[in-house]
Amino acid sequence: VVNAAIGDAKTRQMESFTLEDNSSTPLTSYFGVPIAETDIALRAGARGPTVIEDFHNREKISFFDHERIPERVVHARGAGAFGEFKLHTPLTGLTTAKILTETSKTTPAYVRFSTVGGSRGSADTVRDPRGFAVRMYTDEGNWDIVGNNVPVFFIQDAIKFVDLIHAVKPEPHREIPQAQTAHDNAWDFMALHPQSTHMQSWVLSDRTIPRSYRMMQGFGVHTFRLINAEGKSTFVKYHWTPHLGTHSLVWDEALKLAGQDPDFHRRDLWDAIEAGAYPKWELGVQLIPEEDEHKFDFDLLDATKLIPEELVPVQNIGTLTLNRNPVDYFTEVEEVAFCTQHIVAGMDFSSDPLLAGRNFSYFDTQISRLGINFKDIPVNRPVCPFHTTQQDGQGQMQSKRNRARYHPNRFDALPITSPANGGFKSYPEVVSGIKERMHGPKFNEFVSQAQLFYNSMSAPEKAHIVAAGQFELSKCEEHEVQQNAISRFNLISHDFALAVAEAFPQVKVPDAVPNHGRKSEFLSQVTGKNQTFT
Ligand code: HEM
Repeated sequence: VVNAAIGDAKTRQMESFTLEDNSSTPLTSYFGVPIAETDIALRAGARGPTVIEDFHNREKISFFDHERIPERVVHARGAGAFGEFKLHTPLTGLTTAKILTETSKTTPAYVRFSTVGGSRGSADTVRDPRGFAVRMYTDEGNWDIVGNNVPVFFIQDAIKFVDLIHAVKPEPHREIPQAQTAHDNAWDFMALHPQSTHMQSWVLSDRTIPRSYRMMQGFGVHTFRLINAEGKSTFVKYHWTPHLGTHSLVWDEALKLAGQDPDFHRRDLWDAIEAGAYPKWELGVQLIPEEDEHKFDFDLLDATKLIPEELVPVQNIGTLTLNRNPVDYFTEVEEVAFCTQHIVAGMDFSSDPLLAGRNFSYFDTQISRLGINFKDIPVNRPVCPFHTTQQDGQGQMQSKRNRARYHPNRFDALPITSPANGGFKSYPEVVSGIKERMHGPKFNEFVSQAQLFYNSMSAPEKAHIVAAGQFELSKCEEHEVQQNAISRFNLISHDFALAVAEAFPQVKVPDAVPNHGRKSEFLSQVTGKNQTFT
């Protein structure tokens, strides 16, 4: 039920697209012809053939035949809700984006949570990272932070995403297992890709079996930029911190719930919002001055690394509240189309190669999933005015009202671009280099943050990650995959590898390798002494 009391710009916009069907409205065809009979098709005699002229019969069946659209190629299983974002601590002087500088604004927002690997009908509580995609319908255009509940990612470069997803999705010959990383291809990929070592430790941790969508952190993962009025850039990482705290299931609960209530997370979110227990998150930022870009012992452009909060604290700047369930799942959740390239003026991308590929991939997949005019689907429309010179295409819904649809033109009939109007400008980053298939040298260190993460765990958390490793690898059928995966775990921690290997007597654990700990060049520059995180 639409909460009329909220009545924000997005709610009002979407209400104008709602179908008003009830028992007093006559049934019609799609083209408005009242229909007298919808239960029996037109036949040549009560026992004779069904005739093709019955347009109502054909329309009814034909629309049904085309009800399904392709599910998302990843993150197919999800749940969404509407709400609002309110800034409480402005980033004055760092960005021109009003949503991050004006505390008087309440911005309509939308979030879709998801699993990654499973199909649309898979269970909610499987071991998997969770998608945490946020859209803010700002007065200056839609801003999407398409994040996960884990702060790092499997790979460093989007060109590897295809290999990653082919490996973690069900095996091609028998399409099993559904919605699990517990199979040979997934662990083969991860063991063969040192860059995924850090993410592996998060995947095996309790983070990937969250208690509730309401009790998950969210992370934008990549480094983005904020741009101020003078054109100066500051690097930024985004964090969402739940007011209810971060909580996980234990594995036995996750397994039972997958059978007893595969909709557990979807139901939990829906029920909480219906009951008025609106989930809330703080939006936090880690801000890194442009001059400090190279002061870390990892690369800010490497999505397999986080910025430890000891080095750059997270500052909370605003509150996201989810307070309205969708009215219609298909049009408001299935048809939502997020994209990392949806940013507003006062922001920009960094040159993270994973982010660059995402900026292409989302828009591209949505063309085949929803059709080129998916921008007209109500949940995707901005609440601010929008005018483009793009036109036509399948499913176009806007009629043109001017003779010339090119820019500039003799009628001055179209919206104008002019520096005086403000608008989005890319940050004029100075770039130079040889065109080659290479990453910066700091992209080649893969284990220190995995060790940092493992070493930060309490004894129960360590017991859980060992049990998770044993469960996942027990589902692998090939000895070589188990051996390679445990050899990789050995780089994270010898004790961890030995403990997992107890379940696999045939696996040989290599000798211990030194624990890198973590020496911070950044801290040494700031404080004059090295600090080791172990
Ligand atoms: C979908 C997160 C990397 C391609 C999604 C969704 C999330 C997400 C949350 C679901 C959006 C929704 O709810 O509708 C992430 C994160 C990544 C990452 C946090 C790494 C930091 C990538 C990469 C690619 C990619 C590298 C491709 C090169 C896709 C595609 C979809 C998707 C094609 C489906 C979009 C749709 O059909 O609307 N991702 N993703 N993702 N992602 Fe990613």
